[in-house]
Amino acid sequence: MERGKSWVDYYGNKAVRIPKQRYFCWTTVMCALCLLTKADGCPAHCTCRESTGIVTCQSLRERTVPTDLPQWATTLVMRGYNITTLLMDTFSPNGTELELVNLSLSGNNIQIIEAYAFLGLVRLESLDLSHNRLVYIAAEAFGGLHKLHYLCLNDSSLGFAVVQVSDALETVRLRNLKTLELSGNQLTTAPIANLDALNLEVLVLTNNSIQTVGKEDVSSLYKHDNMRVYLASNPFKCDCELEGFYIWLTNSSQCPDASMLQCSDPHRKKGIPLEKLRRGDLDCTNTSLETESYVFLSIVLALIGVVFLMVLYLNRKGIKRWLNNIREACRDQMEVYHYRYEQDSDPRLANVAV
Ligand SMILES: *[C@@H]1O[C@H](CO)[C@@H](O)[C@H](O)[C@H]1NC(C)=O
Ligand SMILES: *[C@@H]1O[C@H](CO)[C@@H](O)[C@H](O)[C@H]1NC(C)=O
Ligand SMILES: *[C@@H]1O[C@H](CO)[C@@H](O)[C@H](O)[C@H]1NC(C)=O
Ligand SMILES: *[C@@H]1O[C@H](CO)[C@@H](O)[C@H](O)[C@H]1NC(C)=O
Ligand SMILES: *[C@@H]1O[C@H](CO)[C@@H](O)[C@H](O)[C@H]1NC(C)=O
Repeated sequence: MERGKSWVDYYGNKAVRIPKQRYFCWTTVMCALCLLTKADGCPAHCTCRESTGIVTCQSLRERTVPTDLPQWATTLVMRGYNITTLLMDTFSPNGTELELVNLSLSGNNIQIIEAYAFLGLVRLESLDLSHNRLVYIAAEAFGGLHKLHYLCLNDSSLGFAVVQVSDALETVRLRNLKTLELSGNQLTTAPIANLDALNLEVLVLTNNSIQTVGKEDVSSLYKHDNMRVYLASNPFKCDCELEGFYIWLTNSSQCPDASMLQCSDPHRKKGIPLEKLRRGDLDCTNTSLETESYVFLSIVLALIGVVFLMVLYLNRKGIKRWLNNIREACRDQMEVYHYRYEQDSDPRLANVAV
């Protein structure tokens, strides 16, 4: 570069004109900044610890995931981002395989997870998506996570999206998934049968709104007898519907927090531990007997009604005749009464007439 010439001459750019010395100063500052942030190839907003392999990123406005992770990174922790949507290939947009083993995306306002969002994370074993607000999870969302061992979806306002989670897990058949945490999602049903295709060892369903565990879920529990299920802090409705689950619970060691399960409905059983109930307390014999007898009674009544209608129909002529006879008999009677009345009503008149 020639002395005294302005930088703009080299690029033919007429918009900006920076004198040489000021440019020099500016580049020095920029390079210093670059070196500070990129000294060890650490992405912006992140701190990197090569000795532990952990990259921790924190930002309150940033909307995109850092993709320029150092090669040695095995753990990525992100907090406070405003990600909203995890698109396909979010973590390795150019198709390279990453070394990440643990990925924690807790509390990043993630709402939508599109298909193959985690592609390239071939070594990922642990994925934490807790404290987000998931509304949509694509069927192939977890595609490519062949080694995934642990998935946490605590406090993610799953609600209806829980069906999408079980569909997604079933679609991509995560054979290695052992632990699934779904605590604090206001789930109203236990998605146990839905997860039948997996070989889970730990399923956490605590702090939800589960009132009962249905028949299919109970048979799934019997089937997966090496799976542990955590169910504390759910408002169980202790009626007959719960019987199958109750029998399983009292004769199984699969529920480590069994002693913490309580009834919250009906009112007179509120707060009673499920384990302390006696089988008769579930009101099963009575209710089933009652319903059965009601059904039986209605059938009998219906049959009687049908028979009665048939008799009426078959005898319609006889009935008509009979009705006519009655009518005539009535008329005769009425005439007799009328006559008598006329005779008895005014004896004086009768006397006069006589
Ligand atoms: C892919 O991205 C990584 C990190 O950004 C980079 O180091 C690598 O060179 C890129 N590979 C290709 C093929 O572009
Ligand atoms: C996150 O991003 C969305 C979409 O751009 C925006 O509407 C919202 O205000 C952002 N939230 C925060 C906390 O910055
Ligand atoms: C999810 O919730 C369960 C039950 O409260 C808890 O044991 C587990 O540590 C939580 N997971 C995370 C990552 O916070
Ligand atoms: C239970 O779940 C709700 C969300 O449904 C959450 O706000 C609350 O902190 C959770 N409680 C515990 C003890 O984890
Ligand atoms: C309880 O479990 C044992 C074996 O685990 C089984 O033999 C027994 O029949 C079960 N009892 C009931 C009432 O289901």
